[in-house]
Amino acid sequence: METIKAIHARKTIRDFQDQVIPVDILETLLQAGLKAPSNNHMREWEFILLQDRQKRIALLDQLLHPVGEKGALDIIDRWGLKDEDQRAMYLDAIPKQYAMLAQAACLILPCFNQPSPLLSPKTLSDLNAFASIWMCIENILIAAADVGVFGVVRIPMEDEREKLKELLNIPAAYEIPCFLALGYPADDARSAKQVQINLQEKMHLDQW
Ligand SMILES: Cc1cc2nc3c(=O)[nH]c(=O)nc-3n(C[C@H](O)[C@H](O)[C@H](O)COP(=O)(O)O)c2cc1C
Repeated sequence: METIKAIHARKTIRDFQDQVIPVDILETLLQAGLKAPSNNHMREWEFILLQDRQKRIALLDQLLHPVGEKGALDIIDRWGLKDEDQRAMYLDAIPKQYAMLAQAACLILPCFNQPSPLLSPKTLSDLNAFASIWMCIENILIAAADVGVFGVVRIPMEDEREKLKELLNIPAAYEIPCFLALGYPADDARSAKQVQINLQEKMHLDQW
């Protein structure tokens, strides 16, 4: 697929087939990630692959508490969301947070070296390493779409982040931006209606 087609094909998928991603494909995706630009030139990224299903589920059981449809509606209302497509996306997504991580063919925890406290940046540059790893993650998602693999990112809640670091022996200097769940879409996989943006309204010539 041409790059531009893969970019347009990428979409978030939370329902997966029970089909493994061959190792060579997985390596191709991670190699694509490693080609992303990095602020200090060093690409200080590591990838924890949570492959063993039993261990993964044991880990997730310590982190996430599944939320049902009623709980999801409560959350969406508490957030005051009005846009119908946005509400539909969250209504589909919130109850799937546990299952999507458990059922994905591959669950990756990207990690990046964060030299200063991530949650108390003083300047934008303090967030350079965080920004860089997200470029890496997007490369992975686009390369994945190119070979029919799709997925979803989940930002760990604050207590999940701390527990993950402890349970998986992640060095103190490293941070986890997200869970990255990848797999082949289930036959009946849902995908949210993407917001259509009119580019002409977003382009500002010479000044806003
Ligand atoms: C920074 C970021 C955080 C996200 N967090 C979550 C999340 O915690 N759980 C989830 O199911 N999806 C999450 N998503 C996926 C978004 O819901 C999804 O990208 C969005 O609805 C647009 O849909 P699309 O990816 O199909 O275009 C996240 C996406 C981004 C970029």
